[in-house]
Amino acid sequence: MHILVGVTGCIAAYKACEVVREFQRAGHEVSVVMTAAAQQFVGLATFQALTQGCAKTSLFGDAEPIPHIALAEEADAFVIAPATANVCAKLAHGIADDLLTSTALACTCPVFVAPAMNVHMYENAATQANLDALRSRGVRVITPDAGYLACGDVGPGKLPEPSVIARTVLDALLSAGALAGKRVLVTSGPTVEPIDAVRFISNRSSGKMGAAIVRAALDAGAHVTVVSGPVSVAYDARAEVVWVETAAEMLSAAEDAFADADAAICAAAVADMRPERAEARKLKKGRDDAALASIPLVENPDILSALGHGKRVGQVVVGFAAETEDVLSNAQEKLIRKQADLIVANDVSEGAVFGADADEASFVTPSGGERLGLLPKTEVAARLVERLAEMMHLSA
Ligand code: C5P
Repeated sequence: MHILVGVTGCIAAYKACEVVREFQRAGHEVSVVMTAAAQQFVGLATFQALTQGCAKTSLFGDAEPIPHIALAEEADAFVIAPATANVCAKLAHGIADDLLTSTALACTCPVFVAPAMNVHMYENAATQANLDALRSRGVRVITPDAGYLACGDVGPGKLPEPSVIARTVLDALLSAGALAGKRVLVTSGPTVEPIDAVRFISNRSSGKMGAAIVRAALDAGAHVTVVSGPVSVAYDARAEVVWVETAAEMLSAAEDAFADADAAICAAAVADMRPERAEARKLKKGRDDAALASIPLVENPDILSALGHGKRVGQVVVGFAAETEDVLSNAQEKLIRKQADLIVANDVSEGAVFGADADEASFVTPSGGERLGLLPKTEVAARLVERLAEMMHLSA
């Protein structure tokens, strides 16, 4: 997920650095927006360094012409921590006089506010009415801790620990997700089929599509196991990753994970064939020329088909198909043959999809095909997860 952290002018602003780190440690992208007053407590440079340059303070003078709209559009959640009494009042009244408050007004994603201030300011009827107004509009107010405050007073008004803020936000987001409580298996990447100690048959699958699906399913609240062949892409840290090499290993790991999964998405590019025998030693030119010139192949197991034919009532199985012609009808045939519930058909007639960031995709189900057009793989993954959630709720 992309989380926007808002920092306002309060002594607890230093804790916002750790709030950013907590979200990053949980595998999320983070941007920061600061008020002018916040910079009296922590410099912009600190947040720039923590977010690789994704920290902003001003509506003007940025390369981005309309920064508050861009920030609002990319955010999956806006977390204002700490939120001063002044900013809570502005939010409650729709005042948009700087980048942070303008962004808040433009946000359609969930908004969280963690008030932090002196106890009397917090308990003041005006602040309480403002927080009530925010709650009534769906803003999640994170209750401050009570304790010894920076001003010397004792009572509620302390910013909770960063780990508590991050957990509160993530629990709320994930339990509201379309796949909350579901277990999803994703197969991803290529398989590697050994010829001898050094040679192998494989393919150019980058794992990008699998990684995008893993993240989209996690963001929707699912528990995700990814069974992957060797890839250089990084899977989201929240996923459980089972590394495999051969199709036989992938089948065995996938069947294990599928036993208690609600859905499987088979995005791996499994080698169709493997050498009949894998020599433990290196075949040598000169000595093993006949063995090198002709490598007998045998068919690999079809993992999608095995899961499709073995699924229980309620389990949903999704496959992929790369086609150069008759895309929809070939995918339809694959859907039936492999007993899948949905096939994501990729039209590769214009070139390879391997390693690319975009896909020309269609969703094919027993009731027909739906062309998505050319979309980034991340968008295909998000739509696939949405569709999967609908299918799982139908079959529940
Ligand atoms: O038959 P084809 O290789 O086009 O099917 C592609 C789909 O089947 C993908 O979802 C892929 O992950 C899956 N597949 C598999 N095991 C194989 C071959 C393909 O799971 N041996």
